[in-house]
Amino acid sequence: MGLVEPEHGIFMGLDTASVKPHERLSAALEAEMDAVNTLIRTRMASDYAPRIPEVTAHLVEAGGKRLRPMLTLATARMCGYAGEDHVRLAATVEFIHTATLLHDDVVDESAKRRGRPTANLLWDNKSSVLVGDYLFARSFQLMVETGSLRVLDILSNAAATIAEGEVLQLSAAQNLATDEDIYLKVVRGKTAALFSAATEVGGVIAGASEDQVRALYDYGDALGIAFQIVDDLLDYGGSTASIGKSVGDDFRERKLTLPVIKAVALADAEERAFWSRVIEKGDQRDGDLEHALELLRNHGTLEATRAEAVAWTEKAKGAIVKLPETEFRDMLHDLADYVVARVT
Ligand code: IPE
Ligand code: IPE
Ligand code: MG
Ligand code: MG
Repeated sequence: MGLVEPEHGIFMGLDTASVKPHERLSAALEAEMDAVNTLIRTRMASDYAPRIPEVTAHLVEAGGKRLRPMLTLATARMCGYAGEDHVRLAATVEFIHTATLLHDDVVDESAKRRGRPTANLLWDNKSSVLVGDYLFARSFQLMVETGSLRVLDILSNAAATIAEGEVLQLSAAQNLATDEDIYLKVVRGKTAALFSAATEVGGVIAGASEDQVRALYDYGDALGIAFQIVDDLLDYGGSTASIGKSVGDDFRERKLTLPVIKAVALADAEERAFWSRVIEKGDQRDGDLEHALELLRNHGTLEATRAEAVAWTEKAKGAIVKLPETEFRDMLHDLADYVVARVT
């Protein structure tokens, strides 16, 4: 039997107008996503180290939106792909994502992910780092199975770029001189690189033209940037219950995200002294997060940040107009709007 079970009716009578874009995508790709999830479960096994599937299952079974694998499946199908390697690539992409989350929660000292305590909290940092490494290696084994050097090139570059983005962020944190250019580099690296690789490999595996592959890259890049900008907004304006992560983590970690960079640029002397104390010196007291939020609101930087996210989604939508007009293209178009409207 192949990787993909036969499909059983795309929307199964759902009222498509009231269903969110990522839910429509997930319904349209149900059989393939089941195959991706099965492949992930099979490949997270380990003969010798039971800690590996324990830690991985804790994160994988908690759900997650599975946005990146859906991007690979949808872009491959949009470009007319009829084989099964897109399932392997989608699983590869989610494995890379899972590995980076394990590492990221150690680096950020985060306590909550996907509504659950993080692996670093439940087990320890050592387990998260090593299991993350294992998952990275497993992701490379999976992509090798496609036999495409081009795909290996794209995904190995993405893995390196993600790490670069995370390291650049490390040195930009706690530094009030961090500007919007540096922020964009960080976001492009740590988040958009995997989105653009996910969409690019979908086209490559389908044998799409170079123009189309470029358009898919541009779509993924812009979507990923918008996605991370909104993630940074939710860290200030979201609720822990809906995002499944603790709000205020970025402030506590003294990260210069876009709403703060914009507020620092508009700060008077007193406000600058506040930012210097909490971000540069790390002297944070009760009520500081609330005061920071008040400054963001007073300077309208939450709205200005959202406007930038919207501009990136417009860019994403513009990129895919050249691609084959299919139901998948419509869903990818709507997904861009969902990314800025999302509360999870
Ligand atoms: C979390 O990504 C990491 C970021 C790039 C912000 P997602 O929000 O897609 O995480 P899951 O997979 O749905 O949990
Ligand atoms: C997301 O980093 C990017 C990666 C995981 C590589 P963040 O630290 O901004 O994301 P969350 O908020 O922990 O999901
Ligand atoms: Mg984090
Ligand atoms: Mg981080």
